Amino acid sequence: MQYDTIKPPHTSVLTQAVLETFLFLKSHKNPTLLDCTLGFGGHTKALLQAYPNLRVIGIDRDIQALNLAKHNLSEFGNRVEFFKSSFSSALSLLDSKSHLLGILADIGVSSMQLDDKSRGFSFESDNLDMRMDLDSQTDAKILINSASVSELEKILSSFGEIRESRKLAQAIVEFRKQKPITSARELATLVAKNISRQKSLNPATLAFQALRIAVNDELGELERLLDSIHDNHTSLKGAKVCIISFHSLEDRIIKSAFKQWSKECICLPHVMKCECGANNALGIASKKPIIPSPQEIAANKRARSAKMRVFQFKN
Ligand SMILES: C[S@@+](CC[C@H](N)C(=O)[O-])C[C@H]1O[C@@H](n2cnc3c(N)ncnc32)[C@H](O)[C@@H]1O
Repeated sequence: MQYDTIKPPHTSVLTQAVLETFLFLKSHKNPTLLDCTLGFGGHTKALLQAYPNLRVIGIDRDIQALNLAKHNLSEFGNRVEFFKSSFSSALSLLDSKSHLLGILADIGVSSMQLDDKSRGFSFESDNLDMRMDLDSQTDAKILINSASVSELEKILSSFGEIRESRKLAQAIVEFRKQKPITSARELATLVAKNISRQKSLNPATLAFQALRIAVNDELGELERLLDSIHDNHTSLKGAKVCIISFHSLEDRIIKSAFKQWSKECICLPHVMKCECGANNALGIASKKPIIPSPQEIAANKRARSAKMRVFQFKN
């Protein structure tokens, strides 16, 4: 496995805040944390170095990321276990004996994925793939060449918040009548020709983000992850859930789930008086999201839209 050790292929965001979130693990004997988005293993490495008793179960749906992480984390031996999986099904993979005290998810795309031209995530790519999981059926090329105008419009407006989404969807379908769209480069040119800049953003940035979210069902994955955590709350007593997101729609989903959990009554419907504890909450949600400092953003511009939220289940 080749990578530059001086300049790692991915710079983890908000690492200090992640370490502080899981500081409480220090007082546990053999705590286990689930890293739902191992990526290059940057967060996991920092956690394993800081907390010598910690064991990590690391998952990623990208086999290439998983292989790089295995290499990057080889010094920790059996303190890390690796699984190729989507995080929506991660909790069902774990054996019931692993009592998790931490769940970390740093959702979205890694720099390794963005920078590898063969993956088709960036404008300059001659490919148009964008799948995080190379075993999944639908890539960006299939989606862009088969979706109807209204399906494309919905993807571009909901996930990219593109104002001229109908115009762009129509232009894509018109272009397809001549020939299929086969590269990211071709798509980026088509976007630039048909829609104007929004704020200071290149419109192709928004269109690519929208397509990537659709190809990987990123919002559905997040919702299913949150549902599975909620469904397993009785075995997560005292655990902290820390999620870093990069898109306002994702942050909204996380904020609303945490808010719901922190209010929720878990008593059976026939119980007249609530018996499930103070304020009926499953735990406490952080009030405000944690965001990177200007210094972190200056050093790593991909950190600029990161937002981290934390929920702690009651003991
Ligand atoms: C931002 S990177 C994580 C970087 C990592 N925290 C680090 O410090 O090196 C996100 C990773 O999550 C993975 N990923 C995204 N959505 C996923 C999902 N639904 N299930 C599993 N892995 C996912 C991507 O393949 C990518 O490798």
